[in-house]
Amino acid sequence: MHSDIKFILISEEEIARRCRDLADAINHDYVGRQPVLVGLLKGSVPFMAELMKRITLNIEIDFMDVKSYVGTESCGDVQIIKDLDSSVLGDDIILVEDIIDTGRTLKKVRDLLYQKGARDVKIISLLDKPDRRVCDIKADYVGFEVPDAFVVGFGLDFNQKYRNLPYIGVLKDECY
Ligand code: IMP
Ligand code: MG
Repeated sequence: MHSDIKFILISEEEIARRCRDLADAINHDYVGRQPVLVGLLKGSVPFMAELMKRITLNIEIDFMDVKSYVGTESCGDVQIIKDLDSSVLGDDIILVEDIIDTGRTLKKVRDLLYQKGARDVKIISLLDKPDRRVCDIKADYVGFEVPDAFVVGFGLDFNQKYRNLPYIGVLKDECY
């Protein structure tokens, strides 16, 4: 275990097992369709990789990078740092995120994808912190519900560090 980690919340094995279950659910729910997996950079990268290798449908993948900030609207706004490479007109999209906290990011990105002409947008998030929700948004597929604590690993960072840890852990207090 990394010396900055206080304890492991979700192990590598638990994540792999849950990703297989989530992929099975998607394989079942999307029979006959070819969804586009849209990952939000950078946190979704390990989750996207673990999930997509268990999906047996013909899929495409794409990525967006956005920054969310709280402006005059209660649910804030997002700035697009990197937009999609391809058109999503008429597509079934599965938006892939590392964690839903306030819900601001996903609400805005989902609205944006509908504005771009997507036929359907579903959300899959590795982690969900329901107690922190500010915007009315619910994921269609969730890996794990986590308590209101700051977690790192498997894509999630603190100051851009710890994304490479193979598990989800809680940082020691002195590391903040
Ligand atoms: P939201 O728009 O408030 O839902 O923000 C979600 C984003 O905040 C995630 O994509 C993460 O980048 C970041 N975030 C929220 N909680 C955590 C955490 O516990 N650890 C690391 N990043 C987090
Ligand atoms: Mg993020």
